Amino acid sequence: MLSAIVVVLGYIFGNFPTGLIVGKCNHIDIRHEGSGNIGSTNALRTLGFLRGGLPTLVGDVLKVVIPCLLVRYLICPNLTGDTNGFLSTNYYVLLCGFGVVLGHNFPFTLGFHGGKGIASTGGAFLVFNFPMTMIPLAVFLLVSYVTKYVSMGSIVGLISIPVSIAFFYPGQWVLVVVASFYTILGIARHKSNIERLMKGTENKLGSKKK
Ligand code: G3P
Repeated sequence: MLSAIVVVLGYIFGNFPTGLIVGKCNHIDIRHEGSGNIGSTNALRTLGFLRGGLPTLVGDVLKVVIPCLLVRYLICPNLTGDTNGFLSTNYYVLLCGFGVVLGHNFPFTLGFHGGKGIASTGGAFLVFNFPMTMIPLAVFLLVSYVTKYVSMGSIVGLISIPVSIAFFYPGQWVLVVVASFYTILGIARHKSNIERLMKGTENKLGSKKK
């Protein structure tokens, strides 16, 4: 029951359409610009760093950090759970964050047409384990920088999350499984990017084309 509550709490927060609001403040509908995605990469591509990318990133991270902190310190504090990590505070934080990603990717406020959930995923893992999150973040930044494809950085960064958890939380397989939900959904949401990568038509950093 508590699991369902934290997922629903996250889903409600995830519905906050940061990118759309940032776009509207700049007199555009971000869904009709660039890749059409409502995330910070497309806001950066379409509106630049200060007007688009930064505020969208901050909003999308905050909308996951807030409910995950509520879960960590108010709703499910100090739960040790079982040896697999099941029903621990960390488990509920990850579930809540996954609810936010679901709300971001499939928002009822936008007819269930949302984004790809990369910033929300990053924010959830910042609350889960701040130092550990530096590994997927570094992977994301490095791969994005080297390849010039943010989507490639996102995909490889997503894969590094459950791998990092398996390393830092040995035996806590439930946490690895829940982290894998983020990875599987995130990669699935990059289907169009993967198709463009294979065709060689994916948007490069700094490019404005579709
Ligand atoms: O964070 C999403 C990124 O991986 C891809 O965004 O706009 O290029 O589809 P976009």
